[in-house]
Amino acid sequence: MRANQFTDITYEEFRELPPKAKAGFFNVAHRPYHTLVAQQFDRTMLDRLSLLATQIRRIAKSKTGMHFLNQMLEHRRVMLYFSQPSSRTFLSFYAACQILGLKVAEVRDTSTSSEMKGESPEDTVRTFSSYFDLLIMRTPQQGFAEKMAWILSHTERPVPIINAGSGKDQHPTQALLDIYTLQRSFEKTGGIDGKTVVFVGDLARGRTVRSLSCLLTNYNNVVQHFVTAEPLQIGQDVLDELNAKDVTYHVSNDFEAIIPEADAIYMTRIQDEWDQIPGESGTIDISAYAFRKEHLTKLKINAVLMHPLPRRKEIATEVDSDPRAVYWRQVRNGMWIRVALIASTFGVDTQIDEYAKLNLA
Ligand code: NCD
Repeated sequence: MRANQFTDITYEEFRELPPKAKAGFFNVAHRPYHTLVAQQFDRTMLDRLSLLATQIRRIAKSKTGMHFLNQMLEHRRVMLYFSQPSSRTFLSFYAACQILGLKVAEVRDTSTSSEMKGESPEDTVRTFSSYFDLLIMRTPQQGFAEKMAWILSHTERPVPIINAGSGKDQHPTQALLDIYTLQRSFEKTGGIDGKTVVFVGDLARGRTVRSLSCLLTNYNNVVQHFVTAEPLQIGQDVLDELNAKDVTYHVSNDFEAIIPEADAIYMTRIQDEWDQIPGESGTIDISAYAFRKEHLTKLKINAVLMHPLPRRKEIATEVDSDPRAVYWRQVRNGMWIRVALIASTFGVDTQIDEYAKLNLA
């Protein structure tokens, strides 16, 4: 395992840094050590992870290939600490770890841990980290995984941390799988550069949107649209980052008008678990922000329709069979990109390159 790079900075100083500046602490030698924020990925890293995911996918097709992958990290152990509801991301990581032979343990309900005896979550996670070589964490608190990365880096036994969703803020691995899906979808139509991406739904509280918007800034001339009802519009901090990078974007509430312009439409559900007053977002009229069957005729022939899932009614099920609906492919891509990320984290990705060179035609 490579050493981690946290230099001497107090937690209070670190916490106040903008995400881009924090990112400098998370990568080692152009590989993710911790994966905590989308801002830590540049184009080279994204291209690298996508290539690796594709190699892994191809290697895994044969039994001998799968055996090769299965032994790569059989001497390592991982803890999945998911204190926020999750089944698809949890299982995606679980399957990714299994593919690499990692031994997996899980904490999903902190009410059965000593947090109930008054222990701080920081102490709980620090204790658990002693038994494992990698922590994968989903928490309702924004910044908790970053805080743990800082705390553990000042102990005798730091371990890498992967953020599997933190509060309303970041979901970097979902954004990685979204990028991988876009890249594969646009393989024959010039890649992601120059495309128009439309985000729809709960943009104010959707962490997948925030992380993907950031990753898209690594591509040339991508235009971003944020289309939803006013109370659910994207945060100013996201727009500030786009302004700082000179990215063209549009904020509007007219979904119908934008469908024919889109190369990718990224639908999201209302994140009402964050309502300040229970039920308050139920009063917002979101009926215009659903993709219905009749919208397919307006959609470009090479466009893609995406969703991080779980969906509610924002995409009609009749749309599922259209080849432009790629949300089920996103799920599968998520597993492969997570295998690639974990392999990179442990620095065994070059073994995959070598295997691919020798065994894939
Ligand atoms: C997303 C999440 O948890 O932020 N789900 C996921 O990880 N695929 C989106 C959501 O819950 O709406």
